[in-house]
Amino acid sequence: MGNCLGSSSGVETSRNASYASGTSTSKTSLSSFPSTLTCSTPSNLSAPHYKEHTASGALPTPRTEREILSSANLKDFTFSDLKSATRNFRADSLIGEGGFGCVYKGWIDEQSLAPSRPGSGVVVAIKKLKPEGFQGHKEWLTEVNYLGQLHHPNLVKLIGYCSEGDNRLLVYELMPKGSLESHLFRRSVETLPWATRIKVAIGAARGLSFLNDECQIIYRDLKASNILLDTDFNVKLSDFGLAKDGPTGDRTHVSTQVMGTYGYAAPEYIATGRLNAKADVYSFGVLLLELLTGRRALDKIRVAAEQNLVDWTRPSLGDKRKLHRIIDPRLEGRYPKNGAHEFASLALQCIRNDAKLRPNMSEVLAALEKLQDPKYAALPPQSNQKKKSSNTMPRSPMRNPRPPLRPTPSGSSLKSYHA
Ligand SMILES: Nc1ncnc2c1ncn2[C@@H]1O[C@H](COP(=O)(O)OP(=O)(O)OP(=O)(O)O)[C@@H](O)[C@H]1O
Ligand SMILES: [Mg+2]
Repeated sequence: MGNCLGSSSGVETSRNASYASGTSTSKTSLSSFPSTLTCSTPSNLSAPHYKEHTASGALPTPRTEREILSSANLKDFTFSDLKSATRNFRADSLIGEGGFGCVYKGWIDEQSLAPSRPGSGVVVAIKKLKPEGFQGHKEWLTEVNYLGQLHHPNLVKLIGYCSEGDNRLLVYELMPKGSLESHLFRRSVETLPWATRIKVAIGAARGLSFLNDECQIIYRDLKASNILLDTDFNVKLSDFGLAKDGPTGDRTHVSTQVMGTYGYAAPEYIATGRLNAKADVYSFGVLLLELLTGRRALDKIRVAAEQNLVDWTRPSLGDKRKLHRIIDPRLEGRYPKNGAHEFASLALQCIRNDAKLRPNMSEVLAALEKLQDPKYAALPPQSNQKKKSSNTMPRSPMRNPRPPLRPTPSGSSLKSYHA
């Protein structure tokens, strides 16, 4: 399902990105390459054109910014439109913040797409690049380039963009339940039941399989904060600023500056800058571990042995007797033993150090779909004790031995994987 006609690759960018030493993972350049990025980027930036890929591996034809913007079937908003749609980017319209900048809720008319009064028309999410942000114009353009042409139920819909002076904005459909990150890691949000975790994993796998296997695109930015959810926990992948066309023909990889997010990036990609779709599969494996454990890929406030989720979980993933030790305690035992074992085994295959041994995303998707069969999905009977506790008071922080999560401090210095 979906189309990948005429998509085109991202534009490589360098950013003077900071690495957060706090709990959360943050998207960065994973090398210490300094940024030369400004918002007033010249308009002759070019991106390779996916359409021009051939089976013989011919190099893609570059596309200019003008070509990208004019060919995308997207609304070109004025800055003043988006100011009105968000009531001048009012603080109470703010719905999130990332490396790119702030994301606001706004209202537009369904037909004309002109700004409308709050409560009338359709509600949208408007991402506004901060001029001093780490992510910049090239990623903005890459996002327009891909999402202007890729359409799939598991990819977020881009409605339009704004490029006026130094202002760079993107307008998306609003996903009412926000990102998976808040549902998995925020203590104040009700925990996701096992069946919902499987549903989310399947949705993300469908989106990623579409990109990797049908479009030969490497996403490079799979992580919980980029998995957006609708009211029924259907998944849409977002943030295509780092996406890249995969190798074609006899090539096994594309060479790039190492970009991505600590904790999710595949070891061989970090070590060599050589990228192929198996790097996305590794990141997907890390996401499965987050769903299984309720812990972040990288969590600097934990004891050293537990900071890196892959290192901490790996010894238990293939061992049925140890597995229960790492499963999210917030599930309170409400998971199917067989299903959890299969899920953990799949995660283990995805995070294999030898990229060639990892499955591809269509195989991962098929394995996850199997976990909806009653054989793997039936929950253990709930004991009276458990029933009582889950139906009564909200969980007190005192019952949870984990320390509170700290927000990512901004502006901390980049720590590179390279010495
Ligand atoms: N279309 C959307 N609908 C609803 N919420 C959204 C949408 N897009 C983004 N958000 C919210 O805004 C937050 C910030 O998103 P953004 O993509 O800017 O940063 P991030 O993914 O959290 O981090 P990074 O910049 O490192 O990728 C998301 O975590 C999500 O909660
Ligand atoms: Mg994001």
